[in-house]
Amino acid sequence: MFEDSNIVVGLEIGTSKICVVVGEQNAEGAVNIIGLGQSLSSGVRKGEICDTEKVEQEVRAAIFEAEQMADVEIRSVYLGVTGGHIRGFNNRGVHPVVSADREISDDDVQDVIKNAKAINLPAENTVVHAVRQHFFVDGQDGVTNPVGMLGARLEVDMHVIHGHANRLQNAIRLVRATQLEVNEIVFTGIASALALLSSEQKELGALVIDIGGGTTEFVVYSEGVIRHAGVLAVGGDHVSNDLAFGLKVPLSRAQKLKHEYGSALITEAAKGQTISITNELGLTLKTVNLEHLQRIMSLRLEELFEIIAHELEKAGLTDYLRAGVFLCGGGSRVPAIAKLAERVFQMNVTHGHAGSMSGITAALDQPEFAAAIGLVKYGSLKNRRRERRGGLGGTLGSIKNMFGSFLQRS
Ligand SMILES: Nc1ncnc2c1ncn2[C@@H]1O[C@H](COP(=O)(O)OP(=O)(O)OP(=O)(O)O)[C@@H](O)[C@H]1O
Ligand SMILES: [Mg+2]
Repeated sequence: MFEDSNIVVGLEIGTSKICVVVGEQNAEGAVNIIGLGQSLSSGVRKGEICDTEKVEQEVRAAIFEAEQMADVEIRSVYLGVTGGHIRGFNNRGVHPVVSADREISDDDVQDVIKNAKAINLPAENTVVHAVRQHFFVDGQDGVTNPVGMLGARLEVDMHVIHGHANRLQNAIRLVRATQLEVNEIVFTGIASALALLSSEQKELGALVIDIGGGTTEFVVYSEGVIRHAGVLAVGGDHVSNDLAFGLKVPLSRAQKLKHEYGSALITEAAKGQTISITNELGLTLKTVNLEHLQRIMSLRLEELFEIIAHELEKAGLTDYLRAGVFLCGGGSRVPAIAKLAERVFQMNVTHGHAGSMSGITAALDQPEFAAAIGLVKYGSLKNRRRERRGGLGGTLGSIKNMFGSFLQRS
């Protein structure tokens, strides 16, 4: 077993499962998924690690499984990060062009980007991504590459995603304790969007929503670049909690009922129907009204979508989503969820697929693996960019540039 520079690995430490996806990149840059490992997650709450020892063991188990399947030794990973502490916002940097001939140089571009990144974050926070959107030269907007143009004032819009530094470091330290190197941390919402969206969809405008167990990430792309990103500390497990509370059943039973009978909209068949909950001996302990069960689910999921829709409306992005909404994450398995989302967003909603990659379909077809597959895609794009620049290739990239990485138009 070996790891060579063509191997790219994504690791998501989720609230419900820990997932490792191994990709192999060919000379043309295309990625084939060759390995998948997972273990149940028991030390993560709302996307954040709360029991390091448990998670460490579970990461080791998932890595081992992925290594066996892919027949490679994994030494480094692209690590997904999420949690309610992660926020995204747009920021503009301004820079006066001072050269005598007024021609914009590469240094001017670097300076204006530096200015856009010099933001007042809370002291305990750090930048995870600073993504260039577009430049303005003397007020002319939509400039993608200003180098060589004449101008007096150069501006750039960036999307900055930041989070709590210690919590991010805790995830990195945990992975390092398993003898793995972390190439880079990546917001899982961005990873899922990379997995699901084509370049055309990013150009047209699309919203990706990843409904996990403890969190829901959402990311908006339009004109090829990221416009908005956020995390809600609410996921499929909250739907189970609501069911446990509303139906007065234990949480484990509520989760089972959700998986077996759940729907995001009340079905005709559910009306007047009851489900008997029996014990191991087959004795009926309780009957549950199916319509009531589905109503509870519908209300919680509707609220989740409404919060996102409201945020996008506030950001003025609703009219930019011409390719529609794409769902992923285990929470998107609820029947009729796309229909419910269509009602809320008033646009086309579909279940996303990691279409741009080949390999084991067990990974590619499952909505809960979108983030880990996207991490592989992120890593492969990074490799290609590095190769184009003639720098060091492979997955053994430095941890030094972990914070403040760039996701340029691709
Ligand atoms: N068939 C199903 N019907 C309804 N919900 C489902 C189904 N299958 C999985 N889920 C829900 O999906 C959620 C887990 O999704 P996922 O694996 O994407 O989460 P995660 O990535 O581990 O968590 P997070 O991203 O929030 O940290 C759980 O709440 C689970 O109950
Ligand atoms: Mg997840």
